[in-house]
Amino acid sequence: PSPAASPASAPHATPAALALPTASAADFPADFVWGVATSAFQIEGAADADGKGPSIWDSFCRQPGVIADGSDGDVACGHYDRLEQDLDMIRDLGVDAYRFSVSWPRVRPTGDGDWNEPGLVFYERLVDGLIARGIKPYLTLNHWDLPQALQDVGGWGNRATVERFVEYAVGIAKRLGGKVASIATHNEPWVMAQLGHETGVFAPGIKDRRIAAQVSHHLLVSHGLAVTAMRALGVTAPLGIVLNLAPMVPATDSAADRAKARLEDGKLRRWYMDPLFKGGYPRDVLDDLGHAAPYVEAGDMALIQVPIDFVGVNYYSRGMISADGSWDAKAGGLELTDMGWEVYPQGLTDLLVGLHRDYAVKRLYVTENGGAFKDPIGADGRVHDEDRTRYLDTHIAAVGEALRQGAPMGGYMVWSLMDNFEWASGYEKRFGIVHVDYATLARTPKDSAVAYRDFVRRQRAAR
Ligand code: NOJ
Repeated sequence: PSPAASPASAPHATPAALALPTASAADFPADFVWGVATSAFQIEGAADADGKGPSIWDSFCRQPGVIADGSDGDVACGHYDRLEQDLDMIRDLGVDAYRFSVSWPRVRPTGDGDWNEPGLVFYERLVDGLIARGIKPYLTLNHWDLPQALQDVGGWGNRATVERFVEYAVGIAKRLGGKVASIATHNEPWVMAQLGHETGVFAPGIKDRRIAAQVSHHLLVSHGLAVTAMRALGVTAPLGIVLNLAPMVPATDSAADRAKARLEDGKLRRWYMDPLFKGGYPRDVLDDLGHAAPYVEAGDMALIQVPIDFVGVNYYSRGMISADGSWDAKAGGLELTDMGWEVYPQGLTDLLVGLHRDYAVKRLYVTENGGAFKDPIGADGRVHDEDRTRYLDTHIAAVGEALRQGAPMGGYMVWSLMDNFEWASGYEKRFGIVHVDYATLARTPKDSAVAYRDFVRRQRAAR
């Protein structure tokens, strides 16, 4: 059942307590974009259908013990085979935009040789299907699923991958660049570099600090070159990058905790924002890296600093930092999501206003925001996810507050459209506003989906 199918009927009526009441239409400009987000590997499945090549996440999932529930992305939400149904579901939510990613190995199986026409056709159908339903396509090129064949020759640690990524960006831009509303190069480069190459808890599972730093540099260079190449092709859609950010809060007021919090902010935020907007890596983080600092070729910084149209912010929580590493999030006394992450909407306002103040970004989007909560389907066949609805409400209000304080906000996207493969956590953590039954792949909009739909509808009416 889709929420809009029976707006007035009892099963999908919105209980007053579940509306999103805190944010009001007056807070948001008429062209503000409301959306929902997903990524290819997390929802598509069809891991080797129609000529798709394996990605590093396909391989990583095969290693014993790395995914909490031992699962993989072979089936995921079965989105590849349910495209039309899912497009209708997005339309029924009444959102303005859908943020998705293209699977690189689906369109170019080895990342190098031939392109895979059925893969390209799938994304063409997706984009055309969105446009036909009045939904703006927000495309992300790299949401982590690097072709395994490129990993076999060093992956993002090898500078040659930068060239492969530019070819990929150009190929997608030629095919879809004239249709989409926006293209982001990378999703969360910090996660790919740190979790993929330093702690190794994400694909490709490398544990090497020097490689991780080099990977972050290659991701940034490839971003700059891809933006330049897509512009040269005549793509007029806004181009940008998506970062995972969190305000770093010292656990106590001690000088040591404050210094550590500043360094962590350096690693997460300034390490990416400074080269993108100020032309160099932050000194304190370079010093901290020492011999692990990346090798930078002459001219790289100018490439990275190519002007972009937007920065997308993925926001979930704050970072609580203590110098001795002893801080326990639970000690903060805030509500925790099922990921164990603190619910802290104020951090989103602080972050957006801070980016505006420190970097004068043209446009900011919240490209992801949401919460994992344990929400089983009830006896009435519905999911009463009041915690998620409240989470969305307070965070949307935090975006309204950032707007009031001058941040140039362009839109807000809920993570996620539906429950999906949450990387190393497998299918155990549910972020969707639509519930997915992994036995049947049935989709059931949760109460939060109804609340969000009604909220967006009210925003529209007020425009
Ligand atoms: C950020 C990532 O982009 C997305 O893939 C992930 O599922 C969410 N955060 C939740 O952890």
